[in-house]
Amino acid sequence: MTKVVILGATGYTALELIKILLRHPHVEITAASTRQEGSPPIHTIHQSLTGRLDLNCEDLTPSEIATRGDFAFCALPHGASTAAIPDLLAGGCRVVDLSADYRLTDPGVYEKWYGLVHTDPTRLGSTVYGLPELYGEGIPDAPLVANPGCYTSTAILGMTPLLCGGFIEPAGIIVDAKSGVSGAGRGLKLGSLYCEVNEAFKAYGVEGHRHQPEIDQVLSDISGESVSVTFIPHLLPMDRGILCTMYPRLKRPATQDELLACMREYYADKPLIRVVDHVPSTKDVAHTSFCHMTVRFNGDQVIVMSVTDNLGKGAAGVAVQNFNIMAGYDETTALI
Ligand SMILES: NC(=O)c1ccc[n+]([C@@H]2O[C@H](COP(=O)([O-])OP(=O)(O)OC[C@H]3O[C@@H](n4cnc5c(N)ncnc54)[C@H](OP(=O)(O)O)[C@@H]3O)[C@@H](O)[C@H]2O)c1
Repeated sequence: MTKVVILGATGYTALELIKILLRHPHVEITAASTRQEGSPPIHTIHQSLTGRLDLNCEDLTPSEIATRGDFAFCALPHGASTAAIPDLLAGGCRVVDLSADYRLTDPGVYEKWYGLVHTDPTRLGSTVYGLPELYGEGIPDAPLVANPGCYTSTAILGMTPLLCGGFIEPAGIIVDAKSGVSGAGRGLKLGSLYCEVNEAFKAYGVEGHRHQPEIDQVLSDISGESVSVTFIPHLLPMDRGILCTMYPRLKRPATQDELLACMREYYADKPLIRVVDHVPSTKDVAHTSFCHMTVRFNGDQVIVMSVTDNLGKGAAGVAVQNFNIMAGYDETTALI
């Protein structure tokens, strides 16, 4: 059995991780961290775990928690992850980080968008970006994997085949994105309160959102061209799910069948991606680690649609996929 520890165990992505890992035949969850006092049993924090996991959440230092496992899932906010990860790695743990702390390659870009000076800049640029469909080769031997953002992976997975296939222009891609409220985490925030969100629908981060440089960085790296997107996120009054409706410009004439064939070929051997003929719904992938996508024309305009569950393929699902690859298990173990 592989011993696994979870930091930030009281949050939403941690709960999702635990639910997936409880189905994993080769994993034992050996520790869960919180800053809360009194070492609360995990089922008092996440009541859905009652009778399923007998474990207390403990206020452990990263060095202490590293002694309890071979792998760590770091489900902490940005900033808190960089404070923990060097000690986890020094303690011999391999780490999947769900935060944004190691995703961007340039410390200046990180500082601009996250308002923090990066405290572990030497690992930026050398940390593998944890989207296995794109960066799978770097994952098996990686000590640390930077799990992607939920909006970003949904957008990147949808756009990559057509970009790499030379069908679309790298500039001027519009990414119109919508997310359920769990994307904001479990902590108390005014904008996540029921009466603020229910029966409401609005855009946010309209003048710039921190996922935009992450999308630009990865699409540029994968395609070899300088890609820039206009990314506009929206908050939907539902628990979970992400839809990215994307409007790229065609580089050369193409039919819908050619674009679908390009997507299907790109993901032919990728078990968690489904290129579908219908227009996908967030409901199709809710509580799963799949990404569904398709493409349509409206007149001359290409429209790419991609859906994930923000807590599934957008966070915990891809984190376990990365862990499986790092640990040498089949990448879909516990995920399908
Ligand atoms: N939610 C999503 O859909 C999603 C998707 C992709 C990526 N992510 C990323 O995944 C990470 C976790 O997200 P989440 O949604 O699970 O967040 P969350 O529900 O807010 O949980 C994060 C947990 O981290 C702990 N924590 C908070 N501030 C901390 C600090 N300063 N130092 C140490 N621990 C702290 C808290 O536990 P205690 O108070 O018990 O210590 C909290 O329960 C974030 O970086 C987020 O951006 C989230």
